Amino acid sequence: LKDEKVKVCFVLNDGKRLEAEAKIGDTLLDVVVNNDLNIEGYGACEGTLTCSTCHVILKQEDYDRLPEEPSDEERDMLDLAYGLTDTSRLGCQITLTKDLDGLEIIVPETINDARS
Ligand code: FES
Repeated sequence: LKDEKVKVCFVLNDGKRLEAEAKIGDTLLDVVVNNDLNIEGYGACEGTLTCSTCHVILKQEDYDRLPEEPSDEERDMLDLAYGLTDTSRLGCQITLTKDLDGLEIIVPETINDARS
């Protein structure tokens, strides 16, 4: 089961769609790194919950089917992201499950590094 793959798609603000294959258990940040996806400034803190550059926006139905609720730490960091929405999450905190195959991830226009 560990080697099973799902497909996800990052949608950039210029309309570009970056499709990627991901292993179950990977975070969205892992997917960006492992597939060398060209998303400017994404994941600056490497998943240590200190930057908010991995901010992503999900469709409501996708947001609702994520297996895990955001932690307090994630919420605090999300508050520092630009363009926060009700369906915002941090990509480094979303772990892919089989159920999330076909997930569409909207990358917000402005990426804010909370450390700067
Ligand atoms: Fe920095 Fe997610 S990569 S908070």
